[in-house]
Amino acid sequence: MSGQTILLAEDDNAIRTVLNQTLTRAGYDVRPTSNLSTMWNWIARGEGDLLITDVALPDGNAFELMPKISKMRQHLPIVVMSAQNTFMTAIQASEAGAYEYLPKPFDINELLAIVSRALSEAAKPRQKLAGKPEFDEQLPLVGRSGAMQEIYRALARLMQTDLTVMVTGESGTGKELVAKALHQFGRRRNGPFVAINMAAIPRDLIEAELFGHEKGAFTGATGRLSGRFEQAEGGTLFLDEIGDMPMDAQTRLLRVLQEGEYTMVGGRTPIRTNVRIVAATHRDLSQLIAQRAFREDLFYRLNVVPLRLPPLRDRLDDIGDLVGLFLQQEQRDGELTKTITPEAISELKTYSWPGNVRELENLVRRLCALHAEETIGAQLVKAELSHTQAQAVGGSSHPVDLAAAVELHLAKVLNEREPGPPPWGLYQDVVEQVEVPLITMALNACRGNQIRAAKLLGLNRNTLRKKIRHHAIQVVRQSRNGQ
Ligand SMILES: Nc1ncnc2c1ncn2[C@@H]1O[C@H](COP(=O)(O)OP(=O)(O)OP(=O)(O)O)[C@@H](O)[C@H]1O
Ligand SMILES: [Mg+2]
Repeated sequence: MSGQTILLAEDDNAIRTVLNQTLTRAGYDVRPTSNLSTMWNWIARGEGDLLITDVALPDGNAFELMPKISKMRQHLPIVVMSAQNTFMTAIQASEAGAYEYLPKPFDINELLAIVSRALSEAAKPRQKLAGKPEFDEQLPLVGRSGAMQEIYRALARLMQTDLTVMVTGESGTGKELVAKALHQFGRRRNGPFVAINMAAIPRDLIEAELFGHEKGAFTGATGRLSGRFEQAEGGTLFLDEIGDMPMDAQTRLLRVLQEGEYTMVGGRTPIRTNVRIVAATHRDLSQLIAQRAFREDLFYRLNVVPLRLPPLRDRLDDIGDLVGLFLQQEQRDGELTKTITPEAISELKTYSWPGNVRELENLVRRLCALHAEETIGAQLVKAELSHTQAQAVGGSSHPVDLAAAVELHLAKVLNEREPGPPPWGLYQDVVEQVEVPLITMALNACRGNQIRAAKLLGLNRNTLRKKIRHHAIQVVRQSRNGQ
């Protein structure tokens, strides 16, 4: 490997020195510089076998120079490093033809591995895309946590390919957004993006939805209908909630993916298909495979490139960026401009976000809609979060079974109590926690009619009356019937 020359453009002295030393020790000739013009002079003279460059240099932006570099030195591999670390930096690097993109800080051994790989790979001419994606659009994905950096890098690499991608992750982690980004910034961006959600379509209609049907294919098929495969021709087909696909449809889909052609329901002629497939699910497919609810061979067809989106609780550092984005979107929708305090952001980081980014987005929208304050502070967030948690335990947004809720309650009582003697009377405490809402809701459901409430609860009428008195539950009669 010795004798190969690496051009190194980096304006941070400390970083440049470390990189220079490490690469030299690894046997490369290194030419360090802190500016773009020196780097360009070298390149124009045909010097260097590989370029490592920072994005923002004192005399310009490396991205602006890269098309010129590619034109003049088509085979020169470029490794881009940046501290900006956004989705767009990764995409721009890939668009500009970078061999690799490294968000700072990075592992120096990773850089060495990349450099050696880039130099040994027969330098292939880099692909150029027709037309540019629109970079001035709203950043589609935000968050700069390490976990998201990995996703951005993977996405950037995938943009130039047609590989099938399987996006997994809990509900609300951004699976659909990632699928759209793959399309919007990939080479099929001028084609259609078509989504189909397996969980939202009646099972016996899925095949007709996917492949279309001929007139008279089944009762109710009054005309020919194009399917999603046909609609997505030349573009991307997003198979959402793939784990909910019925077996028959799975078998058929597998065949289409293997053969590259399909027939419409009730049709005979095979139709060739040209779509890029992106699938997503929040379910554990390996478990479904073990239960024989998902075909293993289809799984391998779809899981060519797996992308696993991390839950929000594992990347709490992204909350600031995400809230910033959602506040900005609210403003665009004509709402008042709001700001959020750092303390409020810290408060948001204490919650576990079972509904992930979607839950955070909804909370920000709610905070904007319900409160007149221009600044969202920690108190407001705290109040809203305790409200959310209470609702979650009540089962309205996230069904939690009662036993789990009791366990959660007990764990809280036992872990968070003040130092000192344990809280005697736990049994009564838990029973009351259940009894009060139970009786209150039964009474409400029966419009305050105690006889009917007692029946609903399966309690003796006098027992109910005693309990109402004991807990001082207010009974509001809404109707004059009965009692
Ligand atoms: N990294 C991100 N940056 C900005 N917005 C995001 C990000 N991730 C998710 N969102 C937003 O959060 C919401 C939920 O995302 P999305 O619908 O893609 O999730 P999902 O994983 O498909 O969820 P589900 O499994 O429930 O279908 C969307 O409004 C999306 O725009
Ligand atoms: Mg989704």
